[in-house]
Amino acid sequence: MLVQIEYVDRSHSNCVKYDAIRAKYGDDVLPAWIADMDVKVCPNMLEAFRKRVEHAVFGYTFRPSEYYEAIAQWYEKRHGFSVEKSWIVDGPNVMPMMALFINVLTEPNDEIVIQPPVYPPFFNVIRRNKRRIVENRLKRVNDRYVMDLEDLEGTLSRRKIKLIILSNPHNPVGRAWMYEELKELAQLCSRYGTIIISDEIHADIVYEPFRFTTILKAGLENVIVLNSAGKSFNVPGLTNGYGIVPNEKLRKLYNEALEAFELTTPNIFGALALQIAYTECEEWLRALLQKLRQNRDFAYSFIKQNMPLIDVPLPEATFLMWLDCSNLGLENPQKFFLEKAKVYLNNGADFGEPKGVRLNFACCPENLKKILESLKRAYDLLTRFGRDFEC
Ligand SMILES: Cc1ncc(COP(=O)(O)O)c(C=O)c1O
Repeated sequence: MLVQIEYVDRSHSNCVKYDAIRAKYGDDVLPAWIADMDVKVCPNMLEAFRKRVEHAVFGYTFRPSEYYEAIAQWYEKRHGFSVEKSWIVDGPNVMPMMALFINVLTEPNDEIVIQPPVYPPFFNVIRRNKRRIVENRLKRVNDRYVMDLEDLEGTLSRRKIKLIILSNPHNPVGRAWMYEELKELAQLCSRYGTIIISDEIHADIVYEPFRFTTILKAGLENVIVLNSAGKSFNVPGLTNGYGIVPNEKLRKLYNEALEAFELTTPNIFGALALQIAYTECEEWLRALLQKLRQNRDFAYSFIKQNMPLIDVPLPEATFLMWLDCSNLGLENPQKFFLEKAKVYLNNGADFGEPKGVRLNFACCPENLKKILESLKRAYDLLTRFGRDFEC
């Protein structure tokens, strides 16, 4: 069967991407920010939801053994790593799970390492849980971002760091970390007794010839994987996450916290979505990746050709593109593009890099073209008339 990817107009569906932004900034704004996609879910998933709706009972539920089997097989089949079912832990979503791990593995005021520019909730979850952020900033080397492991070694050797949070693949710079990089990171962390939380939520959106490598291949004792079907299958609103925690002690601490906060009951549709995604939607995912790849290539060459002062690394993974606007001389590129191009992008300041913006290219190609052309018009005026044109 030929799998179709269907783009959909999401306005007036209470979606954060369009409705929340247009309520605030006006109906003429083109949103290209938050990380979900403008595509309908896989028809197989929709069919499973339909059956469940027709059953018409939505009582308390549990995750069946097939659910865990689906996760284990997915990691085995797609990522070449054999996961034991007993290593899998439950959770509501990736970020709340990360918050729980932070609480059980560290104390207030402890320092936690992150690698900016990085997904804004990594900053928030550390601060809001009264821990402190230590930055191990990524470096731009040639045409890609890399981890600064020398800097990290300096930090780990000088301070007692219990936890590092890794975005694997990396949001927003789009790196699919290679085995060698992860191995070096894992060895370093193991030497200093630092636990790695590897957020692998973007694992399935990786473009050939790049490949996803789970941190589990680099070590088992000191690593925690967090994941969900949210990004790859466009179901983040269904709130369901899982972790892979080979270390029994860490698993026990986490499960006690999950129970203490009464977070063990899943959402019927969230759990079902994951099970169906991992067992019946691989073809759909393949078709989706082709569409996303076309959008990525279009956006990348458009920006390279038409806005050469913007530094853009080719996303190896994710449907997000990081635009480093340092050369534009703007105080606030996100505000500039919102006011002059009417395009709402994520603000780099939230990622720890105020001169950047993040573009989400998982929308229909016509909208993507409109977004890029609007950005170009504002860019052209800026580069022609300089800062007089700045807001
Ligand atoms: C790296 C990363 N982690 C976590 C999340 C959010 O996950 P969840 O909605 O499951 O908390 C996102 C969403 O964009 C993300 O990009």
